[in-house]
Amino acid sequence: MKRYYITTPIYYVNDVPHIGHSYTTLAADTLARFKRLLGEKVFFLTGTDEHGQKIQKAAKSVNLTPQELADKVVENFKRLWKKLDITNDFFVRTTDDYHIKCVQEAFEYIYKKGDIYKGEYEGWYCIPCESYYSEIEIGEDKVCPVCGRKLDLVKEETYFFRLSAYEDKLLKFYEEHPDFVLPKTRYNEIVSFVKGGLKDLSITRTSFDWGIPVPFNDKHVIYVWFDALLNYVSAIGCRKGEFDEIWPADVHFVGKDILRFHAVYWPAFLMSLDLPLPKHVVAHGWWTVDGKKMSKSLGNVVDPNEMIQKYPRDAYRYFLLRNVPFGLDGDFSERELIERINSELVNDFGNLVNRSLTMMEKYADGLINMPISIEDDTLSKLAKETYSKILEHMDIFRFDEALIDIFEYVRAVNKYITEREPWTLNKEGKTAQLNEVLYNLYSALKFIAGITSPFLPDSSAKIMDMLGLNDIGSYTIDFFLDFYSVEQAKVKRAGMLFERIEQKEKKEEKKGYEKQKRISIDEFFNVDLRVAKVLEAENIEKSRKLIKLKIDVGEEKPRTLVAGLKEYYRPEELVGKYIVVVANLKPAKLMGIESNGMLLAAKDGEGLALLTVEKPVKPGAKIS
Ligand code: MSP
Repeated sequence: MKRYYITTPIYYVNDVPHIGHSYTTLAADTLARFKRLLGEKVFFLTGTDEHGQKIQKAAKSVNLTPQELADKVVENFKRLWKKLDITNDFFVRTTDDYHIKCVQEAFEYIYKKGDIYKGEYEGWYCIPCESYYSEIEIGEDKVCPVCGRKLDLVKEETYFFRLSAYEDKLLKFYEEHPDFVLPKTRYNEIVSFVKGGLKDLSITRTSFDWGIPVPFNDKHVIYVWFDALLNYVSAIGCRKGEFDEIWPADVHFVGKDILRFHAVYWPAFLMSLDLPLPKHVVAHGWWTVDGKKMSKSLGNVVDPNEMIQKYPRDAYRYFLLRNVPFGLDGDFSERELIERINSELVNDFGNLVNRSLTMMEKYADGLINMPISIEDDTLSKLAKETYSKILEHMDIFRFDEALIDIFEYVRAVNKYITEREPWTLNKEGKTAQLNEVLYNLYSALKFIAGITSPFLPDSSAKIMDMLGLNDIGSYTIDFFLDFYSVEQAKVKRAGMLFERIEQKEKKEEKKGYEKQKRISIDEFFNVDLRVAKVLEAENIEKSRKLIKLKIDVGEEKPRTLVAGLKEYYRPEELVGKYIVVVANLKPAKLMGIESNGMLLAAKDGEGLALLTVEKPVKPGAKIS
């Protein structure tokens, strides 16, 4: 059976791991766990990129040899992955012997084929990015178009890879595989880059020596990107051993900054090596911190070690995957992380588990029994529907959407409890009905434990344990989807899944409120508040926060209103609601769309709730 092969980029060893690195690795780990849950055999790879001028320079600045630096820094990555419970099957290092051998073999293979030739190169080189850029890309200032740093003019004898010969083949491949690069916007970017014309690529260097020597000319070391990309092949046997069971990769996860290497150069190298191409290259966006680019000089680099010391690692993982549509840029803020912990993980998720188990213990001594017949299969049906939505979303690597699906289910189960009122059934001695409700709840928690296992592995393990089930590894999804697969169980409540976290700012906010300036009644009446009915709602794709609404405010034509609701509502949840808007606000442009009005919502440390009227009134009704 072909193993589902997932990779992360291999990380440079000149830096300590930060939130960006942990993001890619956590996403890859989540997919690996998800595929295992589906019963697939998985091979999940991560590792470190240890050659190149950048590493050589970094080592020199701390008086170490490059190998010593690599040996030291690699431990930071390995330690962090362990702390984050990353389930990689192998860790590749580009200074390992098997890798060096594989890169040299690949170089020779391509050389013999005639796709590598010797020449001379002069160009603008960015050492931090380990990449040449063309005059067109760098403009007049001669700074790197990717990282903005100063470029060096480098002239050297070099071996070229005949990339130009692969232009048409690549374009044909992209056309035949429209989901090779995801998300779609990135695919378009890559296609137009290649359509712009490809020049041959310099793939050796003579100006420094920290790299893999060209096998037949040791004056040259192999370009670090040629070296690094081959990790995906060297780590799985380099055409030997298990190689055919694993190759081609199913998903290479990368950041948007290194997409070109993976979606243009890499497939060209592979074509030249006569190897099949990967199925998907999935590019995610970049994290900023409190709205600013992360940098050592700003001192705002987020250390994942610190985060998981302060917050449960499940919460950190949840926040990264949930807060940003996979593919877009995101902003990291502890305030938002706490908001998500308090509202979703404590209120919705933790609370559901806790109240369910409390009732099971209180009303049934923790004993769960399958009823003779089950009248009410609401939760079972909903679980199946939820699962198919999750599958669709995971197919296109939308971790955020999959989590929204899961949490909608969690909320539905909470609602089920409220509506069925097990406490009343207990009081009235309706044992049969009570048992059925508790059994449904048990089965729903079992489904939740299974489906959350890739995303919230620690919480999932705790729930499994409370439900009297084995480790997640003993089951596949069928067990959880077969809703009533457990006939009898003894449950035991074992503490809360998540603890509420107090926000410091919240108290300060309260103080500020008391001190606020008072306004006159006239000032208040300047604001024209109206009821509006939401007719349509759609996500603004390019924005992380905004949703575009069409609202009826009782005027001739509906208005367009843009609001920052994306993180709290799905468009379909908004349609039909009677909301409250400020109708006499000057129009404003948001993401190029004119917004006419502003809606009202309440926000606390835990989430956001729209102001709606208690029962439908005519759109346009004045609020007085
Ligand atoms: N060594 C190369 C990859 C070679 S893969 C054959 C490299 N390493 S890196 O350590 O600089 O970056 C690794 C990954 O971290 C990249 O995918 C990059 O996009 C990601 N990130 C670095 N900073 C980031 C953020 N601020 N936010 C999100 N991811 C970012 O590139």
